[in-house]
Amino acid sequence: MKSEIIKKRGYSKSISGDDFSLYISSYPESVLHVVKRIVNKGSVIAELCCGIGVTSRILCDYFDKVTSVDNDPAVMNHCRQNLSEQIRQGKSQLIIEDAFNEKVLSTISADIVIYDVPYWSDHDAGVEGAFTKKNPPLKSVVEKIRKNITNNIVIFSSPNVSYEDIVKQCGKCEYEKVYINDKHDRNHIYLGELMIKEGQSEVYLKTQQD
Ligand SMILES: C[S@@+](CC[C@H](N)C(=O)[O-])C[C@H]1O[C@@H](n2cnc3c(N)ncnc32)[C@H](O)[C@@H]1O
Repeated sequence: MKSEIIKKRGYSKSISGDDFSLYISSYPESVLHVVKRIVNKGSVIAELCCGIGVTSRILCDYFDKVTSVDNDPAVMNHCRQNLSEQIRQGKSQLIIEDAFNEKVLSTISADIVIYDVPYWSDHDAGVEGAFTKKNPPLKSVVEKIRKNITNNIVIFSSPNVSYEDIVKQCGKCEYEKVYINDKHDRNHIYLGELMIKEGQSEVYLKTQQD
């Protein structure tokens, strides 16, 4: 399984991670697409719920400083290995804490926040809003990020969450449907100055290996 994911996503063979974390990590192509859209909006970025650091590793190539938060110590051990060079260079800072805790958020300064909504098996059922069952309501997470860090937020969400649901929770946004190799894989929700236009948009990405 691990070697299949590594090949399919085009990861370096030396990437550290368990099967599940590798499976739920972002496709490099989708991260690079987001980077292109947001890189001129700031130089310091934070990723909440960073997993093994696939996204954060790419962010380090484009931003001066990247703060990555995840509350799972085992996952963060993989992240530390994947970002070892960037940590050594002082570009990457890891925080092992609950990303929904306002006290933790109040210690972070960043121009932009990426929030990668933790993936729960509920998503597979296609139940509208299911992603809020185990995670706190998106509205409250976004409010805490806005209050403590910035209005410029990108949310990586499950494809099952509707535009209407996102608007109810986050207000004005750009809801970008992301197709990877023609499959609707996820949504990117852009808030604040990161919107190119309010409403729904789409992007079609291809991975190298499929
Ligand atoms: C979708 S993964 C992140 C994948 C990552 N963007 C990547 O590309 O590798 C979501 C992560 O959220 C983390 N998580 C779940 N609840 C959390 C919480 N309350 N605080 C911080 N991290 C949390 C999980 O440990 C998991 O690693």
